[in-house]
Amino acid sequence: MHKRSFIHAAVAAALVSASGLALAQDVFKIGLILPMTGQQASTGRQIQAAAKLWMAQNGDTVAGRKIQLIVRDDTSVPAVTRRLAQELVVNDHVNVLAGMGITPSALAVAPIATQSRTPLVVMAAATSIITEASPFVVRTSFTLPQVSVVLADWAPKHGIKSVVTLVSDYGPGLDAEKYFKERFLLDGGKVLDSLRVPLVNPDFAPFLQKVRDEKPNALFVFVPSGSGAALMKQFLERGMDKAGIRLIATGDVTDDDQLNQMGDGALGVVTSHHYSADHNSPANKKFVQAFEKANKGMRPNFMAVGGYDGMRVIYEALKKTGGKGGGEALLNAMKGQVFESPRGPVYIDAQTRDIVQNVYLRKVEKKNGQLYNVEFEVIRDVKDPGKARK
Ligand code: DHB
Repeated sequence: MHKRSFIHAAVAAALVSASGLALAQDVFKIGLILPMTGQQASTGRQIQAAAKLWMAQNGDTVAGRKIQLIVRDDTSVPAVTRRLAQELVVNDHVNVLAGMGITPSALAVAPIATQSRTPLVVMAAATSIITEASPFVVRTSFTLPQVSVVLADWAPKHGIKSVVTLVSDYGPGLDAEKYFKERFLLDGGKVLDSLRVPLVNPDFAPFLQKVRDEKPNALFVFVPSGSGAALMKQFLERGMDKAGIRLIATGDVTDDDQLNQMGDGALGVVTSHHYSADHNSPANKKFVQAFEKANKGMRPNFMAVGGYDGMRVIYEALKKTGGKGGGEALLNAMKGQVFESPRGPVYIDAQTRDIVQNVYLRKVEKKNGQLYNVEFEVIRDVKDPGKARK
């Protein structure tokens, strides 16, 4: 090779790699880890659809940075979530980690967020303690204490003096049980028994038989998104309602993703939650319409809203840093954000990094031939009671 052409080639190579580097720096990467298969697959499907809708509506460039969404399926196995998070940080150099379908996944990733100083936007998992597992966690979902205390206050004023609690035997279930029970006792109610069912493939039948024998006024339930229809089916098949036992639950049970499958037996069930697809606001109507249009009529549930709002929090943070990003700067720009969500007004508490939001009491009703969680009472600006007490 002639000396001149060698220099040309070297310069050209240097230019290519420099522009490659510039390009790599321009791309802002969000590592979205979700259960896309397995028992929690509906959570992944809802959040991915919501993140895509957010990007379709708000563009894929923020403050001059091209946004790349990298979606990974953790099958809701926490060891897999952890490995994927490690790979996304070390190999892909993601700027933000997000998703987290279940509590054990969020807890498995929290130390990686801390060590790598990467914001971790928790869009689904809802055990109180998660925000305390890393100073880099910001949550856009909800907490079980937040919604459970509201239902515990409502029940004794509406003829429910005794309950049995039935929850999935892991973080969010234990939170729901503890906070429902404490508040219900304080309000003068009686808790006859507290039952815990396995998270994976629960058979509710033997537990429901026990509840029938114990004859409480109501059964209080938490099961995670995706398990509500099975619980409802067995509740009705065992004739619990006919035996005079009411079902009350967190809104995870009458999940908008499954509600129409549950049939008319679900009519009248009262739940407390932070989001209903039926929420009556212009922002929500717009969200539901756009979501259904983009997803062959699929109705968004509370997971979708957690994902949609999580994307907003990331976009706004990047804007506030003028496109510079950087873990700490992003984190600081996420703290204290106030906005109108499809669920209603919310803010990210700057101290706790947890979401503060309205909690609604809702009743399953039929509207235009479809079942909806129709909100009938609102408790405003509820902070996570798991932190308020400290
Ligand atoms: C969690 C998962 C859910 O599907 C849900 O509805 C609530 C909490 C969790 O694992 O934290």
